[in-house]
Amino acid sequence: MNSLIEPKVRGFLCTTAHPTGCAQNVSEQIKYVTSHAPIALGPKKVLIIGASTGYGLASRIVAAFGAKAQTIGVFFERAADDKRTASPGWYHTAAFEQAAHQAGLYAKSINGDAFSEAIKREVIALIKQDWGGEVDLVIYSLASPRRTHPQTGITFKSVLKPIGAPYSNKTIDIISGRLSTVCMEPATPQEIADTVAVMGGEDWTMWIEALLKEKLLAKTAQTVAYSYIGPQLTDPIYSKGTIGAAKKNLVAASKIIQQRLTSIHGKALIAVNKALVTQASAAIPVVPLYISLLYKIMKEKGLHEGCIEQMYRLYVDHLYRQDGQVSVDEQGLIRIDDWEMREDVQQAVAALWSKVDDNNVATLTDFVGYRHEFYKLFGFEVEGVDYTAAQAVEIPIPSLKKP
Ligand code: NAI
Repeated sequence: MNSLIEPKVRGFLCTTAHPTGCAQNVSEQIKYVTSHAPIALGPKKVLIIGASTGYGLASRIVAAFGAKAQTIGVFFERAADDKRTASPGWYHTAAFEQAAHQAGLYAKSINGDAFSEAIKREVIALIKQDWGGEVDLVIYSLASPRRTHPQTGITFKSVLKPIGAPYSNKTIDIISGRLSTVCMEPATPQEIADTVAVMGGEDWTMWIEALLKEKLLAKTAQTVAYSYIGPQLTDPIYSKGTIGAAKKNLVAASKIIQQRLTSIHGKALIAVNKALVTQASAAIPVVPLYISLLYKIMKEKGLHEGCIEQMYRLYVDHLYRQDGQVSVDEQGLIRIDDWEMREDVQQAVAALWSKVDDNNVATLTDFVGYRHEFYKLFGFEVEGVDYTAAQAVEIPIPSLKKP
């Protein structure tokens, strides 16, 4: 099918994606990495769980193009059919694999439910067949609204709600830019437990245990999962809300995994990343308005970063430092949200937050930048792409047998 592809946005989701725009996104990220110093002490064989968009995709690009690592990426994406384009992560991966293969780099992908035992088995079989083991970095970057437990078959749904008390604050419609007040009732104990079951650390632990059992991790292997803390402003809906409870569970899981890895002298780490426009963060009420203000301030101060800049910094300044040390805060967390959390940045954001309304949103915030980044996630509004040209939508991912 060749067609003109336009964005179709529903709520915080775009149901179409543009293959050429997505490919261009990937090539911009590769260009960023290859224009910076190579990561001399970087990883060699990297498994990325949640590898097709956002932080996971950027982690894969940095590993491959910054450290010449072989990568296996796991994700859950939709191929194109007669009626629909593929999902953006599908097109991103197609473009990533093509570029990696052209550069002579091993890159294979597995598309399916990473929470399931079947996908874990498939990944393990591929690692055994192609690498014979020796995975030295496992990135865990899943963001999912639901998880079916592999042992009980129960499906849990995550919710984005406050805990303990209702919460209301300003929020922004990510397309119209109109402000409104969102009021949320606190989560029930069941909703909190379900969100922890989806976005907490149980599945990460299962992955590492499965890899350890099969002796597929190299000596001194590292594993990293991603978290967010953010300012007081978003505390009720993030850090102190249901997603925050899940992230606390993720941190607790890192300690359990750390113990499991002692026999191979490995490390289990949590990196606290910057708030960025991704499909996952667009779904959280209040956060898009916060990000619109944050972008404004960080751009003005010359501190703005996207996923690729963040992930390059994670590898170079933390995971693969020349001195072999990982720099962490007093709680043992890697903080690449350090620039976001700088006092001057947060003070400026908080000052604007109290003033922002429908009349001044265009000038006080970088909402235009937010919306542009949102469209870019799906391959739209990408510089250099001719959106008036009809375009094939069925693009194969080279390592997957069928699109
Ligand atoms: P994203 O929505 O861009 O990416 C999610 C990835 O998970 C995709 O590759 C998707 O295919 C994969 N995925 C989802 N369900 C799956 C399943 N069942 N099986 C296999 N793959 C599945 O999300 P984003 O924003 O990059 O988030 C990744 C991690 O980073 C999350 O833990 C998130 O909490 C964290 N983080 C995000 C921040 C942000 O502002 N976006 C800030 C700090 C941390």
